[in-house]
Amino acid sequence: MRDEDVSYEGTSLDPLNGPAVTAMPWLRSYHDVVEVFRSRAFVQGGGGRRDSAPITGYGVLALSGRDHFERRRIEATLFRKDMLRWFERDVLGPALAAKLAEIARQGRGDGRARADLLPFLRDVYCDLTCSFWGIDGVDSHEARQRFLAIVDGITPGGAVEWERGNHREIVSRCLAAQRHFGASYVRPAMLRREALIEAHAAGRVHESELPNDMLTVMLRNKQHFEKWDSEVYVRELTLFAPGDTIVRFMPHMVAEMHEWVREHPEDRALLEDVDFLRRCAVESLRLHPASPYFIRKAVEDTTLASGRVFRAGDYVVLDVTTASCDPEVFGADADRFHPHRVPRHKVKPVGLAFGEGPHTCIGAVMSVGEISAHHPDPDDPLGLVPYTLRELFRAGITPDAGQSARLNSANARNEFTEFPVRFSAIRSVRPVAGS
Ligand code: HEM
Repeated sequence: MRDEDVSYEGTSLDPLNGPAVTAMPWLRSYHDVVEVFRSRAFVQGGGGRRDSAPITGYGVLALSGRDHFERRRIEATLFRKDMLRWFERDVLGPALAAKLAEIARQGRGDGRARADLLPFLRDVYCDLTCSFWGIDGVDSHEARQRFLAIVDGITPGGAVEWERGNHREIVSRCLAAQRHFGASYVRPAMLRREALIEAHAAGRVHESELPNDMLTVMLRNKQHFEKWDSEVYVRELTLFAPGDTIVRFMPHMVAEMHEWVREHPEDRALLEDVDFLRRCAVESLRLHPASPYFIRKAVEDTTLASGRVFRAGDYVVLDVTTASCDPEVFGADADRFHPHRVPRHKVKPVGLAFGEGPHTCIGAVMSVGEISAHHPDPDDPLGLVPYTLRELFRAGITPDAGQSARLNSANARNEFTEFPVRFSAIRSVRPVAGS
């Protein structure tokens, strides 16, 4: 594919491919949804293959077969334990401590500092996104706000399958923001990394001096990415926003955990226990999956175990919200938050919030840690979400009773746009770098 083909008008990246989700059949039972996620008879029908194609087309989420396998193999290096430990302790930890200290100062020492959790977390996760992607120089308050504003301008385009507005308009707007982001942030960072990689090949730069980030990983595997147009690097970055999903869904967790310990005071002490924090995170994600449904397209005629028939070319919607609350699998109280829940069948406690099959979330362990680790190494990364929850509850976070939280009506993702909180123990917060 050539560069000039990338404009989405009249190309394979044309948005508005396929029928509207309301015109597609919906699968809602846990077993049907898992079967389609895992089946070779279906490929991605949304993420980068439909309306979001101009923003994330030819990204890992849109690929299938050998290309998909190869892309996952290349990117797996970013999710090694040593990398996760570094992101968590040396990037997230100091950013979180600094932000809590800033809120404490604003609270004038009365021990009841207030904030809106969404902009709070958005700022905290900014350094992590830059470190993960390999974007340099975003190191002052103003630079972070400029960077976040441009990233916010792209986000709805990658998630347009869940947006309620006019998809073509949203995608055009986001594509302009993505091009601006590519020119002002990604291109300079790529040039610096290309020079370093060349110097390394010539023996002038040691392996340990090369950055550990996504741009470097992609540029060191150019032979793979050169199969697509040169904008594929920017589109791929857009898919990997470590803070984005976490930031948007943490308010649900805080609300549910607050309610749980209020009704079960005996569990309050467990707010220091990483295993309990992880259980809470996973249970909350099961109830509020980041994306409520996914689209798949049949590539051959197939019949599911339940008898549902699909012809090649048919689209189907996988309703992960309903499937993850299937009482047959998660029990009669499946729609309630219960962090000590043991599912009836041998299924992941998180339900389908991280998807299933070949496109299962590559960032799941980074987000919540090793769910099944029975005897974890104390030096293992905790997972970004349990780590953040632990520090927030240490700072005495509670939803601000006097202020109302607000859900976003612009999309179907059940995400908050406002979530006022108080920090009642913020003065006792310790610096957490390396803890
Ligand atoms: C709580 C946090 C997160 C949730 C709930 C979540 C959810 C998901 C889901 C449901 C999918 C499957 C999509 C599909 O099958 O169409 C997915 C895929 C993906 N996620 Fe996540 N995610 C989270 C965090 C992350 C993080 C931290 C990263 C990266 C830093 C990430 C990167 C990706 C990528 C690249 C894919 C595509 C994988 C592939 O196609 O092979 N996610 N995620």
